Amino acid sequence: MGNQIALQCAVYGNHVNLHDVNEASLQNSIVVFSEFLDRLIADGFAAAEQRQEISDRVRRTTELAKAVADVDLVIEAITEDVFVKREVFSRLDELCSDHVIFATNSSSIRVSRIESATQRPDRILNAHFVQPIWKHPFVELMRGSATSEATIAAVQSFMEAIGVLAVVVRKESTGFIFNRIWRAVKKEALKVVDQGIASVEDVDRTWMIQMETPMGPLGTMDIIGLDVIRDIEMVYYEESGDPDDAPPQLLLEKIANGELGEKTGKGFYSYPHPTWQEPDFLKKTPS
Ligand SMILES: NC(=O)c1ccc[n+]([C@@H]2O[C@H](COP(=O)([O-])OP(=O)(O)OC[C@H]3O[C@@H](n4cnc5c(N)ncnc54)[C@H](O)[C@@H]3O)[C@@H](O)[C@H]2O)c1
Repeated sequence: MGNQIALQCAVYGNHVNLHDVNEASLQNSIVVFSEFLDRLIADGFAAAEQRQEISDRVRRTTELAKAVADVDLVIEAITEDVFVKREVFSRLDELCSDHVIFATNSSSIRVSRIESATQRPDRILNAHFVQPIWKHPFVELMRGSATSEATIAAVQSFMEAIGVLAVVVRKESTGFIFNRIWRAVKKEALKVVDQGIASVEDVDRTWMIQMETPMGPLGTMDIIGLDVIRDIEMVYYEESGDPDDAPPQLLLEKIANGELGEKTGKGFYSYPHPTWQEPDFLKKTPS
């Protein structure tokens, strides 16, 4: 997500400092960013001649202090773990000048659980993007306990400037709008497979046919990353304490086998050519 957010900002002319704590991830980001940029150009969202200038707007560093020197906005998109995020925001708070606004792209952690790690609860908010961002330029903004109107307005106008529609959630809600609804679907899809009620393919076929969507819930989870799905489910589980909210065994087994979805070449499907992308997927006799 960090690569996609950086890309969207760069396409619209902004200079971006991309930071990762892990040198290997940062090196890999050169390849991933370049692939996303190819797809964005192929989808007609930038001209091929702009490729170099867009890439040149993004600098990479493992040094956080260097990354945030002279910035106006920090968008965090690291591991979905409240403790890790709090630690990073506390560090950011020390490093950044007062005017800098902080946003978290977290899918399930309300910013009110993070804001007290900083001295700027009025200048921090949730900003939850959808991937791929260039195709779905949409973000849900959500206040913490003290996020100011000026912060919301500034981020809304920045989103507009990078071609992203910003919707403001009216009340704090774990999962915002979309993820609350998506979670119910995701949880049931996993259970239907985990309980042996239907195959992965048949769950996705059923959904794709009825909802007229190009992919089903399990294929979607593969694209998001099964480890990311587990982490998000854990946030709901920790909040509710309800065993029914715990990530199902099926998901944990896939992760233990290193099957994290598209990014590792295998998840519920095999990549780069998953069966759900085959033209006759919805015409095959169900298994
Ligand atoms: N995957 C999605 O579709 C999606 C969509 C919307 C929001 N999100 C949210 O975005 C965030 C990132 O998700 P992702 O799918 O990109 O995860 P990812 O695992 O692909 O990437 C996370 C990156 O953060 C880096 N990182 C970990 N700890 C760090 C630290 N302390 N400082 C700097 N970098 C650190 C890791 O090295 C890794 O490169 C999560 O909060 C997730 O909930 C994900």
